[in-house]
Amino acid sequence: MSSHTPGISGKVVVITGASSGLGEATARHLSALGATVVLGARRADRIDALTAEIVKAGGNAIAVATDVTDAVQVQRLVDAAVERFGRIDVMLNNAGLMPHSPLERRKIADWDRTIDVNIKGVLYGIAAALPHMQRQNSGHFINVSSVAGHKVRPAGAVYSATKTAVRVISEGLRQEVKRWNIRTTIISPGSLATELPQSITEPDIAKNVGDFYQEYALPADSFARVVAFAMSQPEDVDINEILFRPTRQDL
Ligand SMILES: NC(=O)c1ccc[n+]([C@@H]2O[C@H](COP(=O)([O-])OP(=O)(O)OC[C@H]3O[C@@H](n4cnc5c(N)ncnc54)[C@H](OP(=O)(O)O)[C@@H]3O)[C@@H](O)[C@H]2O)c1
Repeated sequence: MSSHTPGISGKVVVITGASSGLGEATARHLSALGATVVLGARRADRIDALTAEIVKAGGNAIAVATDVTDAVQVQRLVDAAVERFGRIDVMLNNAGLMPHSPLERRKIADWDRTIDVNIKGVLYGIAAALPHMQRQNSGHFINVSSVAGHKVRPAGAVYSATKTAVRVISEGLRQEVKRWNIRTTIISPGSLATELPQSITEPDIAKNVGDFYQEYALPADSFARVVAFAMSQPEDVDINEILFRPTRQDL
């Protein structure tokens, strides 16, 4: 049974990358607080199962198989939310991957995927949701960056570039969309326990990052609570950026 939390209950929230990790945890958390969630990711079996779980618990959810590198599919996801539930209150641009490697290994296919998902995917989410939010004269973009959007480390140049781009795009968006009463939040997490390190294709780098995550990572629902915090502020309060880490993480 859903509870009723001011600023969350009744809102329609579209979440990309809802099939695992942060997106999945956020779908569960917001639904438990009374939000309607619209779930997008490529793995349809996963988002279908999560939808069934949420509906069984008394929540509202639908799933739309979505590849965020395809603007048409992202538009279909957002339009499904509006057609089914009448509006979109929050666009959580969360889908991402992190195939770390040193530049000298020339992992060009990894660079392309990272840029396509982490940057273009966010832009397509903005393109899909913005016209609806302008019409509504309300809405909230929550874009997921990273500590890596603030710092670059060896093997992380391309990932950091994409997460820096998310911050730059979000700040530009913030300035442009004020007049439609639209809020913009950047969330930059430190290490959280998800499937993210599995996107690393170089075994030695995967081991290093895996060991780091093993040591430091927080549960994914710490991110979900940050999303809920930003959403639940009064409409005239726009939380523009939150950077958070595990207390023990030094990087
Ligand atoms: N975990 C961390 O420590 C951490 C820290 C800072 C920032 N982040 C950011 O948090 C976000 C979520 O990552 P996570 O940690 O939850 O990792 P995750 O468990 O690997 O989840 C990534 C999600 O992105 C989706 N995705 C990947 N490619 C996609 C595509 N082409 N189209 C649609 N969805 C796609 C995946 O779904 P499908 O594979 O089913 O499509 C999955 O649901 C990412 O932007 C990541 O960069 C994570």
